[in-house]
Amino acid sequence: MSQLTKNTFKAQAPSNIAFIKYWGKKNIQEPINPSLSMTLKNSKTITSWEIIPSDKYELEIYLDDVKKDSFKSKIEKWFDYLGSDFDFLKRSKSIIRTHNTFPHSTGIASSASAFASLSLCLTQIHSHVNGKELEAEQISELARLGSGSASRSIEGPFCEWGGTSDKFATPLKNVHESFMNLRDAICIVSNEKKSVSSTIGHGLMDNHIFQSSRVKQANLNLNLLNSAIENGDVWKFGEILEEEALTLHSLMMTSSPSFILLEPNTLAIIKHLRKFRNDYNIPLFFTLDAGPNVHLIYLSKDQQKVESFIENDLKSYIPYGVIYDEVGLGASILYE
Ligand code: DP6
Repeated sequence: MSQLTKNTFKAQAPSNIAFIKYWGKKNIQEPINPSLSMTLKNSKTITSWEIIPSDKYELEIYLDDVKKDSFKSKIEKWFDYLGSDFDFLKRSKSIIRTHNTFPHSTGIASSASAFASLSLCLTQIHSHVNGKELEAEQISELARLGSGSASRSIEGPFCEWGGTSDKFATPLKNVHESFMNLRDAICIVSNEKKSVSSTIGHGLMDNHIFQSSRVKQANLNLNLLNSAIENGDVWKFGEILEEEALTLHSLMMTSSPSFILLEPNTLAIIKHLRKFRNDYNIPLFFTLDAGPNVHLIYLSKDQQKVESFIENDLKSYIPYGVIYDEVGLGASILYE
């Protein structure tokens, strides 16, 4: 084992949007059901982690150069979960600086991109200290311990977690070429902070009356979605996407306490989208995260028609604008 010396490590990682939704946890950061997501390309977090050997443990975190003590508890909980290989973190000072390429509270999961980028920094620190490189699956596992969805942001274009393993995500091997240029237009209906934190949200599934049927449905949808993505069956793909999004919100509406996160503009967008799809036979679908913003998913060959539909017909329902993103390949180390 080599000695830890003062060093800075950098990485970037994208967020992802789930098509099969992770909702509910067991054990330490393991999902009660499998999930599958598309890795994004432009919406990412860039992180630098300076590590300084010290007698005293210290942690400082900055977002866009502003000190964020409120992020400390989530990161320290992560340190506690990491295991003895990472004990050196408790004997050092860490200065973490992050920047997101997307605005806050937009329905883009910043915890996914943040913990994926932190894990890629940590793997560099680990190999600096222990002389051992970690595999992608091990990096995904580190990310999962910080935030479940972060496990799916290490690789791309599509990742599955909880099917093959509850510990880490793996990229789908067989992806039909139609899905290789998938687009995601994120319609920002509201920029208010999420009203259900992920801890509370996942906790709602612990005693949910629909828990066992939800787990069954997610497993079934995982198989169906995997074959749709493999065979290029865009229409089946879209059917599952929308079922999953509405299931997530139905679960929230029927949990105790109950949450309604959909806004009138969310429903207006969905109604217009379905009409556009029927009128023009264009495979345009929606998915939702745990919030009111709508992710519109479509093929690159339909980009022009869909984007003019968004600009002309949906604009009045999207007061905070649209973020155009697309499928991406995952996280990477940044060398200075
Ligand atoms: C609705 O990964 O944010 O976006 O593990 O507590 O950090 P933690 O939760 P998080 O949950 C994401 C929930 C979701 C669905 C999904 O991304 O699969």
